[in-house]
Amino acid sequence: MSSMNDIPSTPGKFKMDKSSHFHRVRWHSSYTKLTFWSIIFLGLIFVFFIRSPSSSSLPADSSRRSLRTYGWGAGFVGTHVSAALKRRGDGVVGLDNFNDYYDPSLKRARQALLERTGIYVVEGDINDSALLRKLFEVVAFTHVMHLAAQAGVRYAMENPGSYVHSNIAGFVNLLEVCKSANPQPAIVWASSSSVYGLNTKVPFSERDRTDQPASLYAATKKAGEEIAHTYNHIYGLSLTGLRFFTVYGPWGRPDMAYFFFTRDILSGKTIPIFEAANHGTVARDFTYIDDIVRGCLGALDTAEKSTGSGGKKKRPAQLRVFNLGNTSPVPVAELVNILERLLKMKAKKNIMKLPRNGDVQFTHANISLAQRELGYRPTTDLQAGLKKFVRWYLRYHSDGQKAAE
Ligand SMILES: NC(=O)c1ccc[n+]([C@@H]2O[C@H](COP(=O)([O-])OP(=O)(O)OC[C@H]3O[C@@H](n4cnc5c(N)ncnc54)[C@H](O)[C@@H]3O)[C@@H](O)[C@H]2O)c1
Repeated sequence: MSSMNDIPSTPGKFKMDKSSHFHRVRWHSSYTKLTFWSIIFLGLIFVFFIRSPSSSSLPADSSRRSLRTYGWGAGFVGTHVSAALKRRGDGVVGLDNFNDYYDPSLKRARQALLERTGIYVVEGDINDSALLRKLFEVVAFTHVMHLAAQAGVRYAMENPGSYVHSNIAGFVNLLEVCKSANPQPAIVWASSSSVYGLNTKVPFSERDRTDQPASLYAATKKAGEEIAHTYNHIYGLSLTGLRFFTVYGPWGRPDMAYFFFTRDILSGKTIPIFEAANHGTVARDFTYIDDIVRGCLGALDTAEKSTGSGGKKKRPAQLRVFNLGNTSPVPVAELVNILERLLKMKAKKNIMKLPRNGDVQFTHANISLAQRELGYRPTTDLQAGLKKFVRWYLRYHSDGQKAAE
């Protein structure tokens, strides 16, 4: 496997259109504030106590299926996880700041999709303590599925502050609110395969070193893992970090290679194909979104309760980290071949040296721990997953962005 050079975890060149980065809830008057909270309050009551199925309508193994999860609604992974939780009968509320790192209209389309299934997405920032505290006052969340982050490896060179804002300050703010909540929720959150950084031993195992990140993004995810340790140790928060490996699929992120390769092949634009030194292959352990969703649900279902109250730990709490990958890295050239076959079009390629801006040459997950502890078993290969992505992409863009999966 050492000859297999990996693709960037977010192998994309992605430019922001606008400089303003974060939407925040702003109060224009106390009347607006009162109206806002009335709507939120009624909305949450409706979501949790009226639209969610009653426990008697749940299947026999419903004991695990009464989660009241506080997720992050309009991101790629968040949308799929929220929808899956709702489908099996859990109560879910989302939160997203709808920033413009990539086209916010895609986030709005995902939000509309979620709202059609009864999931309300609050617009706000995880740095807004007052907002988070209010939400916890209204609903006693049993679990927090934390997927809000500044993603992308290369964008860190353009806007480093956004990584600190969301992945470090925002994460700490969220944990502060969770540690003070009564009861404290169990938290499952997204770390990243990028924490393996410049490691060359493959496949990557949770026991491997994670102290040589290749990007600021990776460094903030690594910091998140250390911060999680601290809040677990001091406050008894139950914390599970999931190291995702290049997640792809319908409703995916336009800054990722599979997505913008599709767009550029269709429009006849040249796509950059990176290779490492000495014509080394760049490869990624592409993981289909449905497999990731099953891993997330497995993590939520096996998460133990937090053990603190009133900001104090009563006894040791669960602290876990898992790789969620596909265990079969695919060279980026093969990704392009598959897309060409599915789109029935030839790509215009420009072979380039892998830039030193945060991308690593390969990723490859060892998933035996997640297999054992979460029952995680990915089943979708890249060909099958891309077929579903391309079908969605074509429908989404031909239906004026209204297509559902
Ligand atoms: N998709 C992948 O391949 C991949 C790989 C490794 C790790 N991850 C991690 O998984 C998580 C989900 O990734 P994704 O692909 O769904 O990304 P995404 O960008 O689609 O979703 C993240 C969402 O968080 C929101 N957000 C960002 N900062 C926020 C803030 N301060 N307050 C509120 N909302 C905020 C964004 O608007 C976005 O909708 C992220 O933590 C990401 O770093 C993803």
